[in-house]
Amino acid sequence: MKKDEMNSFLKKIPRGVIYHKVTDSVRYFLASMLAPLHRKEKVIEFENIFASYCERKYCVAFPFARTAIYFVLKALDLPKGAEVILPPITIKGIVDVVVDLGLTPVYVDLDVETINFRLDQLREKLNPNVKVAIITPLFGLVPDVSAMVALLKANGVFVIEDFSQCLNGRYDNKRVGTFGDVGIYSASSIKTLDTLGGGLAITDDQVVHDRLRNAQAGLMPARRTALIKKAWVNLIRNVATSEPVFSFLTFPVLQLIRQRNPEAALKQTGHRDKGRLATLPLLWFCRYTSVQAQIGIEQIKGVIAQDAARVANVEFLKASCEIDDFPKTTQESRNVYWQLILPVSNALEAQAYFAKRGIDSATSSLELVCALKDYPNRADLQTAQRIYRNGIFIPCFPHLSQSDMRRIVMAVNGYFQERGHAKEG
Ligand SMILES: Cc1ncc(COP(=O)(O)O)c(C=O)c1O
Repeated sequence: MKKDEMNSFLKKIPRGVIYHKVTDSVRYFLASMLAPLHRKEKVIEFENIFASYCERKYCVAFPFARTAIYFVLKALDLPKGAEVILPPITIKGIVDVVVDLGLTPVYVDLDVETINFRLDQLREKLNPNVKVAIITPLFGLVPDVSAMVALLKANGVFVIEDFSQCLNGRYDNKRVGTFGDVGIYSASSIKTLDTLGGGLAITDDQVVHDRLRNAQAGLMPARRTALIKKAWVNLIRNVATSEPVFSFLTFPVLQLIRQRNPEAALKQTGHRDKGRLATLPLLWFCRYTSVQAQIGIEQIKGVIAQDAARVANVEFLKASCEIDDFPKTTQESRNVYWQLILPVSNALEAQAYFAKRGIDSATSSLELVCALKDYPNRADLQTAQRIYRNGIFIPCFPHLSQSDMRRIVMAVNGYFQERGHAKEG
């Protein structure tokens, strides 16, 4: 048996990782139970660190990205029915806050090379009633943010960049999250900077900043039980995706789930509720805690090095796989590849093929929000549907070994060869 074959027999490769050491996750779990939650100066310290890290004047911390977006939209005093351009793939919570504020979501289809708004379709949607657009660089891929923002600004549209999946991405050497009026980063579980949740709004606009500060001051105290639950889930995910637990327990369990119901194991962190909310949950309006701020202060120092290792892995994979199907973005994009997305013809079939070779893969857990039945302005958008159903994440996280990488390349090449599809020339 060759070394790589032996490896795949024993060692399995997970679909993703938690960006904390297991020992850190244990510490954070203990802190969630024992440490004070509302040390204001700690939160301010982290806000200042994050603002200067992102090269913006201000940062205001909220419990979730959706909460930050809610208060940015509220600060704009928009007329009822004003249109907000949204990505067709994102978290449902963002549509919930838009609809709750009496605003109308409008969806624009994605470009296959950037997995972001198609510029021609974005232009078609513009009209005087469009007041806001939320540009969302997905999977760490950087689109031509400059052209998008120029088009939107020329039409009087307020621009929010949701860079939750693209911290440290750059377009033409300028940071993603700093092109528009406000940038929002979700520091939720499995992100590259994960503070057990949190929505960090960055801006240079003093008026918006002052309004966000007022909103922050009106939030309710955080609930410790909610923080403990997040710290626990993070710890469990961390242990479950670490060796040897992943190879000997998590992977076999995932295969059992998949054999019983292939759809159940397909999405990265499972399925989420699609139903319409009667009211926004109170939990969305509780404060960001000083425990989370402290985690941010510790973890932010390591993000650049982890990005560099992951980007190097992606470059190796893209150069070694004999296919031309990875999104190409643009010449000026400096992508961070939070996930390496690969469109395939059938995600379930690809997942099964990779699993046979000891590689766990998944599709995004984000929602195809433009297709939600209970929400207004549904749209049938072809590329978004394709990416949502059949865009599969190929493992690329920082601590993959050379032998892991060779196995992934062999599996991807094998999969496409069996389907008679390889790079031309
Ligand atoms: C693009 C994007 N926006 C927002 C979020 C999360 O937002 P919240 O902090 O409201 O859970 C995520 C997390 O999965 C995301 O990927």
